[in-house]
Amino acid sequence: MFQKERFIEECRAALKESDTQGAILEIVARAVADPQQIILALGEQKLAGVETIYRADDLTILNLAWGPQMKLHPHDHRMWAVIGIYGGSEDNIFYSRSRDSLTQHGTRRLNTKDAIPLGETVIHAVVNPLDRLTVAIHVYGGDFFAMPRSEWDPKTLEERPYDVEHTMRVFEEANEQLRAMKTLS
Ligand SMILES: [Fe+2]
Repeated sequence: MFQKERFIEECRAALKESDTQGAILEIVARAVADPQQIILALGEQKLAGVETIYRADDLTILNLAWGPQMKLHPHDHRMWAVIGIYGGSEDNIFYSRSRDSLTQHGTRRLNTKDAIPLGETVIHAVVNPLDRLTVAIHVYGGDFFAMPRSEWDPKTLEERPYDVEHTMRVFEEANEQLRAMKTLS
């Protein structure tokens, strides 16, 4: 059974393990193996957005909902991450740095119950390929909101400082679409 406080405690305990990310991957994989329990504990997401479940200098846990067909431009995290999907799917497009730009080097679709680790240097863009919300637990090995990091213009692939407000606008646009879809139905 998924319990928010216990999940946080387990993740905090994993920070003492020699392979912290591997231990967190196990915890997240176990949690998303039973999506219904997460929905019961955290509530069903109705809109796209980011809910901070836990934030400390050494650990951030987010409950994330991607809007239908939502696209998030390439960005890095500069800390390890573990992503677990408990509803829907997300496509990850991976990039590596090349001179002043980025080169795409692979994609991976994650479906409900999938959990993957992402290394500190990973650069990725995320797309929700579905016409409904995709919901995920994200765990990061640091303070996700305090770390200065980069994003890349989706068209020119030019690097620039990560812009939280821009990301929030992408979520808000997704929600405007969701509201429009509800009005039409
Ligand atoms: Fe990311």
